[in-house]
Amino acid sequence: MSEKQDFLPLRGVDYVEFYVGNAKQAAHFYKTAFGFQSLAYAGPETGLRDRASYVLQQKKVKFVFTSAMQEDHYISDHVRKHGDGVRVIAFEVDDAAASWETTTSRGAKSFQEPKTEEDNFGSAKISGIHTYGDTVHLFVEKKNYDGPFLPGYMPWESHYNPEPAGLVYIDHCVGNVGWGEMNTWCTFYSEVMGFDQLISFDDKDISTEYTALMSKVMTNGNQKVKFPINEPAEGKKKSQIEEYIDFYNGAGVQHVAIGTGDILTTVAQLRDRGVEFLYVPENYYEDLTDRVGEVDEDIAAIKELGILVDRDEDGYLLQIFTKPVQDRPTVFFEIIQRKGARSFGKGNFKALFEAIEREQARRGNL
Ligand code: FE2
Repeated sequence: MSEKQDFLPLRGVDYVEFYVGNAKQAAHFYKTAFGFQSLAYAGPETGLRDRASYVLQQKKVKFVFTSAMQEDHYISDHVRKHGDGVRVIAFEVDDAAASWETTTSRGAKSFQEPKTEEDNFGSAKISGIHTYGDTVHLFVEKKNYDGPFLPGYMPWESHYNPEPAGLVYIDHCVGNVGWGEMNTWCTFYSEVMGFDQLISFDDKDISTEYTALMSKVMTNGNQKVKFPINEPAEGKKKSQIEEYIDFYNGAGVQHVAIGTGDILTTVAQLRDRGVEFLYVPENYYEDLTDRVGEVDEDIAAIKELGILVDRDEDGYLLQIFTKPVQDRPTVFFEIIQRKGARSFGKGNFKALFEAIEREQARRGNL
């Protein structure tokens, strides 16, 4: 940031934690289908009596899958209400205490006061605040920690190690919030966390014949953290954001976009491993080069995999979206490769949302 000081320096997203019904099986799915590697584990064997957490890594992307052992537990409550979903988006910071003090003094609701935890690998300080829905941001300070993940976790060595699929970093995490709440949460990210608004889309940008939504993209000082926030808008039929809110029972993370350096290879691998992607009709590709100009990739290969392309003033991007990764029509993933472009695929919104609507209609939710 040039003029104003970045009062909440974030190094980036450290990890995303999902609360799920069966963490052991979820971890297996993300290894098998998405090419994540076993990194760390905590559970009864490490002295945790109430839950089990499996930490997976692929390059800079870290996912944690956590399940409760008992019915009467906040993790069980979360899963009962939301189904499998994102509970934590954790940031790596240099000073977890200052991050907590700054944000809570600016109006954030505290989730966890700064707390130091240690084990044989060193110590880490963690604090946290609430954001939209039941979602939480943790501030993780681990410069004095040398272990595989965080204190309390043991290295997880497995004899089952599927090949990585070329996923490299978390590009952005999208939040869905309720009717009229987009500006509330954009103000939260701006005033409490010092984010700036990167882009805004209204319902004229993001509408199909039937449904609409609005979106604003918020980003932190170093622009490593990008959080689009969506809210439903009025249309002839039910907005996909409303479908999400109905099944998630409130606001929450809609999708995590993961960057790759070679989307053709990554998507071909993911598809072979059973990841299901949204279908794009063939006519999307008919005038593709007229719309986006020349691209390095083979158009036939792009079309065969159903990858979308968009261009902005800085370059172009390639992207594709999975179907929801659980039975509730809630969380899904985006795979993205940026070739200069810094935007989010506005030119694909219509084709994408029509693809989502076809799935909504199949579910009886349009
Ligand atoms: Fe996205």
